[in-house]
Parts: sequence; C-alpha cells; structure tokens
Amino acid sequence: MNIIEQFINHPDMSLMEYELLVEQAGNPEAVKRLQEEALRIRRQYYGDKVYIRGLIEFTNYCKNNCYYCGIRRDNKSLQRYRLTKEQIMECCQNGYDLGFRTFVFQGGEDPWFTEDRMVSLVRSVHEAWPDCAITLSVGELPKETYRALKKAGADRYLLRHETADKSHYESLHPEGMSFSNRMQCLQNLRALGYQVGAGFMVGSPGQNKFHLAKELYFLSHFKPDMVGIGPFIPHHKTRYKEEPAGAVSMTLFLLSVIRILLPKVLLPATTALGTIDPYGREKGLLAGANVIMPNLSPEKYRKNYALYDNKICMGEEAAKCIRCLEKRVASVGAQIVVDRGDVCK
Ligand code: 5AD
Ligand code: FES
Repeated sequence: MNIIEQFINHPDMSLMEYELLVEQAGNPEAVKRLQEEALRIRRQYYGDKVYIRGLIEFTNYCKNNCYYCGIRRDNKSLQRYRLTKEQIMECCQNGYDLGFRTFVFQGGEDPWFTEDRMVSLVRSVHEAWPDCAITLSVGELPKETYRALKKAGADRYLLRHETADKSHYESLHPEGMSFSNRMQCLQNLRALGYQVGAGFMVGSPGQNKFHLAKELYFLSHFKPDMVGIGPFIPHHKTRYKEEPAGAVSMTLFLLSVIRILLPKVLLPATTALGTIDPYGREKGLLAGANVIMPNLSPEKYRKNYALYDNKICMGEEAAKCIRCLEKRVASVGAQIVVDRGDVCK
C-alpha cells in the first residue's frame, strides 16, 4: 500500500513514515487524494459551516525578539500602541453586532497587561457577552496566570509552538526564549482545561522536510484542539527580509494532512495564506480548513500590527471584511455561521 493510503487508514505513523508523506507534497495525485479525504472528513464533522473568530490585536508592544516577527522588540521603526479596555469592549460590541461569537485577544508579550489587568478585561467581556467564547493569544505566562484567566472566563488559548524541533526553534528565537518552556506552556494550558491551539509557520527559515515530519509527529501526539498554520512571510525590518516566503502548495497539503490526522480539529484558513495568494483562504477551506479569523481591531492601528509584509485587510472595516468573506466562503460552497464554534465532541 502506498504511503498516502497508509496514512489515510492509519494517520498515527512513525517519524520516518511522516517524512515519506511530506515528500508527496509535490505529487499532484497525492495532493488530490488527500484533499478529497480532508474535505470528506471536514464535512462529516462540521458540514459546510465555517466559524469566524473576531481577532482583536490589542497591543503591539512585545518584550520578545523573535527573529522572524515584525513586532519584535528591536523593531524601533514601529509605532507602538495599546488599546484601552473601553476600546477593546467597543471592538467586541461591533463584532457581536456583526455575528461574531468568539473573540480572540491577541497581542505581543506586553508586561503592561499584568495578570490583574488581563483578568479584569476577560471578566468584563465574559460578563458583557456571556454567550461568546473568549480566546487568548498573549504568549508564555506562568501557569498560575493561565489559571486565573481561565477562572475569569477564558475558554481557549492559542500558542503556536512555531517549530517542533529544539535546534530549529533556537535558530528562530534569541537566547532567553526556550523551546522547553513553550512546550510546557502548552501542557499547562491543556491541564487547566483550555481548548488549546498550537501551530507553526510553513517554510520558516531553515525548515526542511525532517522538521515538517516532526511537526506532524508532534501534532499526532499532542492532539491540539486547534492548529494554526500559515506560510512564513518575510518582514522588511527583520534579518529574514530576503528569505523566500513559504509555499501555498505546501501549506494546502499540510492543511489536508492535519484535517485527516485530527478529524475534529478547528483549523483556520489564515490571513498569512490569504496574503501570499489572493484566493489563499478559499483554497484553505477546500483543503480542509473550517475557521476564518477576520480582524476587529480599529482600522487606525491595523498597520502597526504587521507581523509580516503586505498583510491583507489593513484598511478594511470589520463590516466590509465580513461581507467580503461571506462571498468568498460561499464561492467554495460553505457558509459563515453565528456560533461559538467549539471543537465538536
Ligand atoms: N510570517 C508569517 N507568520 C508569522 N508570525 C509571526 N511572524 C510571522 C511571519 N513573518 C506568526 C507566528 C505567531 C503568529 C501570531 O504569527 O507563528 O505565532
Ligand atoms: Fe477583508 Fe476581504 S476579507 S476585505
């Protein structure tokens, strides 16, 4: 039996088998077979529903210095901003009126947002919109802080591990950031009862097929509820400004593989994918994704949350994006729904 059929029948494989699988990314027949299977599985669990998450990028201050990231501490040419609690609540109200039932609070690792301030924010949002899910994406924090935020009303947490290989991790991050702490954070979040999202960039500098096999191996063991993957895109103020962007084709291949590996996973067609290909998000949905994360941040701050160059929807108000997305989603035979969109049990 070939490796594709073997994977479809028994998705839990060895590292060496995942390597053989990844080698098939350039084989059009294999890609097609995986895509059909991924779409079948997505429909089995989620029908043609697409869940939307309202992304609120509430601070671009960051104490970290990840080599690939546009909001890294050492990027001095960036205008830094923090939204006030009132501004954040306004974004939520706007999002609620547009049909969002999940809010994602994403930011750099900003020490101004202490545990107390974050708890107060989460509690206020939870009280104001008790029918909405709250997702946090604010990086590595002590387990006790994760616990306090959960207690305040947070439901989910996104923390991309970025790469499952320790030395690759160390090549993408400065000393002081540790692979083992990141992995420990994911374990802590899981133990506290969060729905947990992991993820990585496709085509990040130095990534090879062995690394990608490791990603799949890691996902098959950790089994996150959500997996965020998107192509690496160079940012002009980073050391990787001349590096090539990750490939659309590899991203789509991996989306299909991840849908088959983790059938119920919440899998976004990411903004990065929509940035390197004008139809990237539509293609992502057809490859097995079932989530889209439009931006609810105030337009005037959007341009300052540039993790990478040429990010889409920079000047678009949320209402406009939603109308645009409704059409895009419909064009691939799916529908955006007004729903929290929890992981199906
Ligand atoms: N290209 C693509 N994705 C990036 N991210 C950060 N910088 C880049 C880049 N240059 C991703 C990281 C991070 C997420 C919020 O954005 O994976 O976890
Ligand atoms: Fe933002 Fe199309 S999704 S303008």
